Amino acid sequence: MRIDILTLFPDTVNAVLHESILGRAAAKGIVDIRCVQIRDFTENKQKQVDDYPYGGGFGCVMMAQPLKSCLEHVLAGTEGQRRRVIYLSPQGQPYTQETAKRLNRDYDHLVLVCGHYEGVDERFIEACVDEEISLGDFVLTGGEIAAMAVADSVCRLVPGVLADEQCYIGESHWDGLLEYPQYTRPENWEGRAVPEILLNGDHARIERWRRKEQLRRTRDKRPDMFAAFTPADAEDEKLLRELEKERGRKKITEPVQYRAAEAADIPRILEIVQDARESLGRHHIDQWQGPYPDGARFAEDIRLGQCFVLEHAGDRAAFFVLSPLEEPGYAAITDGKWSADIPYCVLHRAAVAKEYRGSGMAQALIRCAETQARAFGLKCIRVDTHKKNKPMQNLLRESGFRYRGNILVESEPGHDPQRQAFEKILKDKK
Ligand SMILES: C[S@@+](CC[C@H](N)C(=O)[O-])C[C@H]1O[C@@H](n2cnc3c(N)ncnc32)[C@H](O)[C@@H]1O
Repeated sequence: MRIDILTLFPDTVNAVLHESILGRAAAKGIVDIRCVQIRDFTENKQKQVDDYPYGGGFGCVMMAQPLKSCLEHVLAGTEGQRRRVIYLSPQGQPYTQETAKRLNRDYDHLVLVCGHYEGVDERFIEACVDEEISLGDFVLTGGEIAAMAVADSVCRLVPGVLADEQCYIGESHWDGLLEYPQYTRPENWEGRAVPEILLNGDHARIERWRRKEQLRRTRDKRPDMFAAFTPADAEDEKLLRELEKERGRKKITEPVQYRAAEAADIPRILEIVQDARESLGRHHIDQWQGPYPDGARFAEDIRLGQCFVLEHAGDRAAFFVLSPLEEPGYAAITDGKWSADIPYCVLHRAAVAKEYRGSGMAQALIRCAETQARAFGLKCIRVDTHKKNKPMQNLLRESGFRYRGNILVESEPGHDPQRQAFEKILKDKK
């Protein structure tokens, strides 16, 4: 791809476009970006490029002759090439990623003409310009910033400029969506954790999460783009249905803190339990379908210092009960075995308030439970869940727990006592 930028400020443009990725691509000969001084093509002694507008008015207008001569100079010898002369103008079509794709696909040689002052003589546009492109509905002092934006966005699509085409496929605006959120080290920054799903190496689940986040953030940040978006396949449609269900739920906007629960928290904990009970019932999961766990149970948990509440933005958003005492029922595990005979704690009861379902609060709960396990001086957490409780099993698996076998719990008459047992050995903190 060759790009000639016709400008009164070639040094400025050159400095920007010959740095970093584009600079390296130019050095390798993958792209050829040239900045040409329009003033060098004047036919007057003063090297004047502009003059007063006919009819009066403020400012000056760039003359057609230097522009045309400059253009003829850069086009010389390129006959037969797929070339396009573009005038950067606030009156042009708004520039988009689709335009960048088209320019990269359809042309080998772009000439970008930068106006200045009040613009350029209309007759030059009529006679020499194939297309006008605007950077947006605002007015710049000159076309250089717009030309740099066009050159940069077109060149990064030229094969070989970026390490892999995957670097731009899937980016914002590639297929009518914004990109998913990105994170890098450290895993925890100022109390904000990287979403757990990105840490577990399950690439299929990561891809699904990323696509859903693309849909979510396009819907939330750019409703105009979202309205024009057509789902690519049945999976997109499924993700959109999931997002619709999650609408109205709260988002985690600040660090989640946890603390030991107090007696005053019991009514809120029971409210969360009741919502969880109804949700489990709707999904035909025979867990918490009787009076267990009740207020007396939580009062005892609180007395023992084993019940904790997660707080977010003034809400009590979730709770968990973590006991540092071994569970006698866990000794008789069937269809498997625990990984190691080391002291462990047990995650007994835990639930997230319904407004926070799908927000990442459940993952935050697991992280808090891990922190508390360490505070108890224990490096192993065990937990059991109903075999039909797939959301809990998924949460545990994506949080690094492993299925170890089956156990029986004490349950009320007529309720299923079978549970799947999971375990996580906590790694030493780096
Ligand atoms: C001050 S502007 C001229 C604006 C012109 N008088 C008008 O109202 O349409 C000077 C130059 O900046 C460039 N320019 C300004 N806004 C631009 C935009 N939104 N997109 C691309 N180029 C722009 C054009 O090359 C233009 O010739």
